[in-house]
Amino acid sequence: MNRPSFPAAETELSGHAEKLIRGRHATRAFRPEPVPEDTMRAVFALAGAAPSNSNAQPWRAEVVSGAARERLADALVAAHTEQRASVDFPYSEDMYTPVHQARRAAFGAGLYGALGIGPDDHAARAAYDAESLRFYGAPHAAFLFVTGDGGPRLAADVGAYMQTLLLAMTAYGVESCPQGLLSFYADTVRAELGVTEGKLLVGVSFGYADESAPVNHVTAERAGLASTTAFHA
Ligand SMILES: Cc1cc2nc3c(=O)[nH]c(=O)nc-3n(C[C@H](O)[C@H](O)[C@H](O)COP(=O)(O)O)c2cc1C
Repeated sequence: MNRPSFPAAETELSGHAEKLIRGRHATRAFRPEPVPEDTMRAVFALAGAAPSNSNAQPWRAEVVSGAARERLADALVAAHTEQRASVDFPYSEDMYTPVHQARRAAFGAGLYGALGIGPDDHAARAAYDAESLRFYGAPHAAFLFVTGDGGPRLAADVGAYMQTLLLAMTAYGVESCPQGLLSFYADTVRAELGVTEGKLLVGVSFGYADESAPVNHVTAERAGLASTTAFHA
């Protein structure tokens, strides 16, 4: 855990914030029980309190459950098998610096290690990633679209919405996994859900964690404060 080593003035909320923010983790194995509808409404309503440039709120969430979730999972796996990727936001490994790559490698070693998949077993890693298109077994998934021109400033607003959503879920006892991979088949998601507006940024699988799964006990370390933050005076 990466807590500040200097004493900070605690407030009424700071202890809750530490617990909430540090208590959220990506969950990659879910139990099948659905989240009650009133909890879902509370969580998505709270996510809507996220900040955005001039309060434009350029997000749109499309949530799938039940039969719609099954149909979409099947369609995503089919699109993946048939190599019908379609991204609204370009992706390239080149976007990462060597420092980013080192962090990604450390995270991957922990994740695939917990799954018993060796570092050079590319086939097993690919199979696991393909299976993740079934939302890691979660009973629900939310697809977050950027409306308007879908440019980087609007996408940043939807990033803020995503984190607010994840924290709202944590507060209500709902676990989640944001999945960039779910955005690699944007045309499939659009066609299945009849979406005509916006660019697909990310999908979020959510439900209740299967605590018996070792993968849910993987921890992703964070860089120290000094390597990400400068204080100027
Ligand atoms: C935009 C975004 C995309 C992500 N895509 C994936 C993904 O496709 N598959 C996955 O298993 N995890 C994905 N993650 C989860 C990250 O791996 C995870 O947040 C990171 O390793 C830190 O771990 P933590 O969330 O448990 O703190 C994604 C997270 C974000 C924010």
